[in-house]
Amino acid sequence: MNSRKIAVVTGGSSGLGSALIDALKNDYFVVNISRSAATNADANIAADLTVEAGRLNAVNEIKNKFGRIDLLVNNAGIGAYGTFEELAMEEIRRLFEIDLFAPIEMTRILMPELQKTSGTVINIASMAAKIHVPAMGGYCAVKAAFAMFSETLRVEAGIKGVRVITVYPGRVNTGFSSRAIKYREVPNTPDNSGVSPHDFAASVIKTLKNPRRKRLFFPWWYRPGAWLVKLLLEEYYNRKNIQYWKLNDK
Ligand SMILES: NC(=O)c1ccc[n+]([C@@H]2O[C@H](COP(=O)([O-])OP(=O)(O)OC[C@H]3O[C@@H](n4cnc5c(N)ncnc54)[C@H](OP(=O)(O)O)[C@@H]3O)[C@@H](O)[C@H]2O)c1
Repeated sequence: MNSRKIAVVTGGSSGLGSALIDALKNDYFVVNISRSAATNADANIAADLTVEAGRLNAVNEIKNKFGRIDLLVNNAGIGAYGTFEELAMEEIRRLFEIDLFAPIEMTRILMPELQKTSGTVINIASMAAKIHVPAMGGYCAVKAAFAMFSETLRVEAGIKGVRVITVYPGRVNTGFSSRAIKYREVPNTPDNSGVSPHDFAASVIKTLKNPRRKRLFFPWWYRPGAWLVKLLLEEYYNRKNIQYWKLNDK
């Protein structure tokens, strides 16, 4: 049994998860779950989270090895660039397995452990949950479902003393788009947006340390940006996206 607080981060082998591990290490013993190891984690559990048996083994290993859990960060996820006609059903299912069913199932199983420590769940959703993006409909759908799961869970889990924070990142430099399911090239990728994963992680830690915070939009201006588009600029936004993603070209 570990005497330090235990944080479990999914998808810590790269990008936002890796930056979150760096940021959490001062306060927690950090366990990463992904297919490849996170070199900066205190411990790694190898699992393919799209496979139900893989995620069940991973959570059981956490319970048996570490005996407690104080923080669960549901971060692992992939993107998908393509229209609904282009994405194959099996790819939409894979997207939903990793981005939605895996975090729901792991949270369900770990909730009794989190109740014992009055712990916290941080769910990494996306700004794609807040505004439609043509050619990213599958990703918007899965992140909207995950965000709603998270917002509802905050109330239900809160009754039993578990805090839930929903995080809505905009574009952050991680190489995420290069690892996505891809039928369309991303004209201006998240990989060159200039926002650093370490700045993102620092904002998440700040949110975690303030007990009154329920959610984080990062960078903050994405939220008013999404409102503005929906209220005043939706047709313009749609036309721009049709050009941007070359939706008329094939
Ligand atoms: N970067 C952005 O601009 C951005 C914006 C909004 C939301 N997000 C969300 O933030 C989260 C992290 O994204 P990121 O940018 O850090 O992406 P990333 O660099 O591609 O990292 C994704 C992580 O998920 C893990 N993962 C992927 N498939 C997996 C599987 N089948 N089983 C287990 N682990 C798996 C990967 O590990 P392995 O490959 O080693 O398994 C990796 O550690 C995702 O949920 C994403 O949707 C990102």
